[in-house]
Amino acid sequence: MGKEKVFTPIDIGTMTLKHRVVMAPTIHEMCYGGHPTEAYLAITDTYARSGVSMVCVGGATIDPGPTGDVFPNALSIASDECIFGLQRLAEVIKAQEAKACQQLYHPGRAAARYWAQTDPEMLPWGASAKVPFMAAPKWEITKKDGKWSAVNVMPPAPVREIPEGEIERLVRMHVLAVLRAKKAGFDAVNIHFANVTLVMDFISPYTNVRTDGYGGGWENRMRLPCEIVQATRAAVGKDYPLIVRIPADQGLGEAGIQLQDTLRHVVPRLEEAGVDAIDLSAGVLDHTPNKIIPPMYDARGCYLNHSEAVKKVTKLPVIVAGRLCDPRMIAMAIENDRCDVAALSRPIMADPLMPKKMMAGKPDDVRMCVACGYCMSEAGWTKYCAINADSARERTFPKIEPAGNPRKVLVVGGGPGGMEAARVLRERGHDVTLCEKEAQLGGTLRVAAAGPLTREWRTFTRWHMRQIEKLGVRVRLGTEVTKELVAELAPDAVVVATGSVPCRDVPGADQPIVVTEEDVLLKGTAIGKKVVVIGGAFWDVETAINLADQGKDVTIVREADSVSMNRLGPIRALPILFGMLQAKHVTPLFSTKVVMIEKKGVRIVDNAGIAGFVEADAVVLSTGRVANRKLLDELRGVVADLHEIGDCVKPRCVADAVYGGRLVGSRV
Ligand SMILES: Cc1cc2nc3c(=O)[nH]c(=O)nc-3n(C[C@H](O)[C@H](O)[C@H](O)COP(=O)(O)OP(=O)(O)OC[C@H]3O[C@@H](n4cnc5c(N)ncnc54)[C@H](O)[C@@H]3O)c2cc1C
Ligand SMILES: Cc1cc2nc3c(=O)[nH]c(=O)nc-3n(C[C@H](O)[C@H](O)[C@H](O)COP(=O)(O)O)c2cc1C
Repeated sequence: MGKEKVFTPIDIGTMTLKHRVVMAPTIHEMCYGGHPTEAYLAITDTYARSGVSMVCVGGATIDPGPTGDVFPNALSIASDECIFGLQRLAEVIKAQEAKACQQLYHPGRAAARYWAQTDPEMLPWGASAKVPFMAAPKWEITKKDGKWSAVNVMPPAPVREIPEGEIERLVRMHVLAVLRAKKAGFDAVNIHFANVTLVMDFISPYTNVRTDGYGGGWENRMRLPCEIVQATRAAVGKDYPLIVRIPADQGLGEAGIQLQDTLRHVVPRLEEAGVDAIDLSAGVLDHTPNKIIPPMYDARGCYLNHSEAVKKVTKLPVIVAGRLCDPRMIAMAIENDRCDVAALSRPIMADPLMPKKMMAGKPDDVRMCVACGYCMSEAGWTKYCAINADSARERTFPKIEPAGNPRKVLVVGGGPGGMEAARVLRERGHDVTLCEKEAQLGGTLRVAAAGPLTREWRTFTRWHMRQIEKLGVRVRLGTEVTKELVAELAPDAVVVATGSVPCRDVPGADQPIVVTEEDVLLKGTAIGKKVVVIGGAFWDVETAINLADQGKDVTIVREADSVSMNRLGPIRALPILFGMLQAKHVTPLFSTKVVMIEKKGVRIVDNAGIAGFVEADAVVLSTGRVANRKLLDELRGVVADLHEIGDCVKPRCVADAVYGGRLVGSRV
């Protein structure tokens, strides 16, 4: 792949990038008091070593006040005290001969996420007071009749309209921040006018209903970003590269910024104001987070249509991000002039050697991001990656180093945990046998990957299979490991990764109409048209949608009225899925309990105590999983060096299985 256009240089103003694959701005909540920690420097070093031509450090706030941040532990560029930490970040990047770029922004409304206030004088700024922020967590922790309850109510968080006098200060804050980035040694800045920013709220008709010179038509709504660019240019001179990030489409339909507006009103004005490149994002944090960070439901390269259109209205280089995880797709997009520069965030988190592998002509070795949402979830929040356990653990994880004393290791179970353990063990030089009782590798993930909505999981299994084969792991499919087989193979160590089995803890689960997700999604067991999915697992709503895609008439019954953000994050959360449920005519019966599965359906009761009966030809259990510990129990006390990882410890998710596999792989 090395000679393709993707690996040719490109100029952004006076800065030359040695090729066209860059790290997109990626915030990591790894700071203290706005200053980067050693861990932040370490993850930045990982990105710099990936082979990208430029690393754009994620958003740093320009406002030193309490309404200046969206995320705790995020980076600041709001005062001169920040320059030292920023210098170190720039240095880490430039040491690897990549260009260093710093993104900066004012969060506006989104500060409500961090700064929940009711005092009108203390509210976060918005372009107008009309539009509250909708994603501010607020816990109501109350005690009633001696019992505590805690609910995250997420009420609309009010904002105050930024007065005209303060707008000048806002412009100055942007300019000073750019000057600090320059002083810290950054080769360029990325001024953030998208996703979570006050400036975006000025541009968007959705949030800007001002009646002064900054509100009204496009000319007025574009005044603030253009003034910021002009003022910054005046301060840094004509040679300092200024990149702006804009939302090509906010995903709000006619209410917000749409692609045609970006083409007609936004890009031409910014070009005239003096920017050097346009960087395209999409979405709004509190309404369409799935547009900012598209989930696996979206196609790879889902924003190349945006960049292709923008390229037609500007001479400036156009940078785009959004599921550019496939090396061949990136090369082709650039070859075909669909974008000038490919910006990668999660793909580099998933495989920090991706650009180097592309350049070495090894695209099939890239561990492609599957857009599972874990990095956005409560568990993974902005730094951990489900499929690359090393992400953000540079300082804590043991390196994958040759085993001093290569041993014979048996890994039981070919799910994500077992495959990862086998890969790492073999890479270290151990003699590894991986036994899987089914005819294929992939484990429970094969069930997840069987539905159209979540098919992308296959990519991960494919990557593991290729690595395992290349490394020379001995794979025995269709082999159920028993105590006797372990005795026969006589390994020095055993890693048990036997996963989990479906939970059947529902009254009436032994009725003949009851089937598992595995039956209907993977094995294609024939069932009738009317299906009830009993939920509870964090992926249950997706199972319902996957079944509706098979033409089934689906009702989902679940006790909770929300989907836990703990593992899937906001990009695969219920508000995002709700539209899909409606589009596929799935009937949601939330806050509803299953009383009993009967011969011809399910008896239910909702939280108001109203009872009912839903007829069904089949009832699919998506209630969760139970650890499969049979072999473990048999081997305990028999095998001296015994390890357990993944769902057989406790059913959780891919990230936990991969984490366990990676750690045990370097411990044995
Ligand atoms: C429908 C569905 C959707 C899901 N979606 C997601 C998601 O979006 N994100 C997420 O993070 N997680 C998801 N999960 C959960 C995820 O699949 C599991 O957490 C993960 O697969 C656990 O990995 P593991 O390696 O521990 O076990 P498993 O994947 O269960 O693998 C265990 C393997 O061991 C084999 N085995 C068992 N006993 C033996 C034996 N004695 N000898 C040989 N082989 C044996 C089994 O056949 C199996 O292949 C989903 C699960 C389901 C069912
Ligand atoms: C952990 C994480 C942090 C992010 N931080 C920022 C940020 O600080 N500024 C920004 O403009 N976009 C941010 N993004 C969005 C990315 O830059 C990118 O536009 C988006 O993730 C889609 O690209 P991808 O598919 O390559 O991840 C972030 C994304 C992730 C996953």
